[in-house]
Amino acid sequence: MKAIVLNEAGGADKLIYQDIEKPVLKNGEILVRTKNIGMNPMDVHIRGNEQILTRFMGSERPAILGWDISGEVVEKADDITDFEIGDAVFGLTKGKGYAEYVAVKTDLMVHKPANISYAEAAAVPVVGITAWEALIKIGNVKKGDRVLIHAASGGVGYMAIQLAKHLGATVIATSSGKNRDFVLSLGADQHIDYTTEKFYEVVKDVDFVLDPIGGETRMRSIDVVKKNGTIVSVVPIQYEEAQEKAREKGVNLIILLGQGNKEEMESLAGLLRKGILKVHISAVYPFSQMANAHLQIESKRTVGKIVVEL
Ligand SMILES: NC(=O)c1ccc[n+]([C@@H]2O[C@H](COP(=O)([O-])OP(=O)(O)OC[C@H]3O[C@@H](n4cnc5c(N)ncnc54)[C@H](OP(=O)(O)O)[C@@H]3O)[C@@H](O)[C@H]2O)c1
Repeated sequence: MKAIVLNEAGGADKLIYQDIEKPVLKNGEILVRTKNIGMNPMDVHIRGNEQILTRFMGSERPAILGWDISGEVVEKADDITDFEIGDAVFGLTKGKGYAEYVAVKTDLMVHKPANISYAEAAAVPVVGITAWEALIKIGNVKKGDRVLIHAASGGVGYMAIQLAKHLGATVIATSSGKNRDFVLSLGADQHIDYTTEKFYEVVKDVDFVLDPIGGETRMRSIDVVKKNGTIVSVVPIQYEEAQEKAREKGVNLIILLGQGNKEEMESLAGLLRKGILKVHISAVYPFSQMANAHLQIESKRTVGKIVVEL
């Protein structure tokens, strides 16, 4: 089968399109013929650094990246009862998604709603789970809350706007001016262009902040949250100083590494089925152009999601 492999970490040119053996199923797994792969910044972080690559994928080379997938079940282990051959599925693998066939445990795989395409389904798992865990599991965002979402035109942010509006919150969203209309079309009540306005001069007393940026944005966000309010930051680096400042101000700063579980995946599938969550794909790349998909993610200018198609 065709796969995209990495013999070593490095630039996007290290992604090599080649033939490898089809995986052999183990107990608890289904074999998915991949239709689409959803792309995330984690693909780029892990590709670019040997230590990070080893931490996520182990020391075996070649390594195969790829987390968000959609496709069709073509084989199942004897102990699988909740999926049948031919089922359309989507979910999260633990790597190995950049391949025509993926053997995957079913704990983070669910049935694809019939009203969305394979491409749309592959765009959901990582960002959907992250936004869900930030707003619902940790943030307990509820009707009437005022919520600030940074990087609102990106993968995590655009999902978070839709979830926050579904929960009945008022949403203030940041992006550059070129993405203003997109962010407002998702239901945001107020837009802040971070290139021309300082959010901490125009926002105050919010109940919750979602921070996919880190650094100065995270530090300044502490100034705009109510006492006892919550910031969920999904950037797990250099947060110690911000945690100290948050503690002094009586703000909860939580660093989230999204994990996901079946219930969350089923909940996301349910919202997609009802049309409450809508998927926005700004570009689709052929499998052979995976490197270009990585370069787009690396630009940090992706709007909504990009996916790769097999
Ligand atoms: N911890 C976790 O579990 C977890 C899970 C998922 C993602 N993440 C992390 O979260 C971050 C975001 O992920 P993503 O998938 O949303 O990324 P993404 O889709 O690549 O985000 C790109 C978007 O960010 C916006 N942006 C960039 N800088 C900004 C700024 N200073 N202020 C406001 N908007 C800005 C851009 O809008 P403009 O072009 O308009 O600037 C662009 O639309 C990444 O670092 C990723 O690794 C963590």
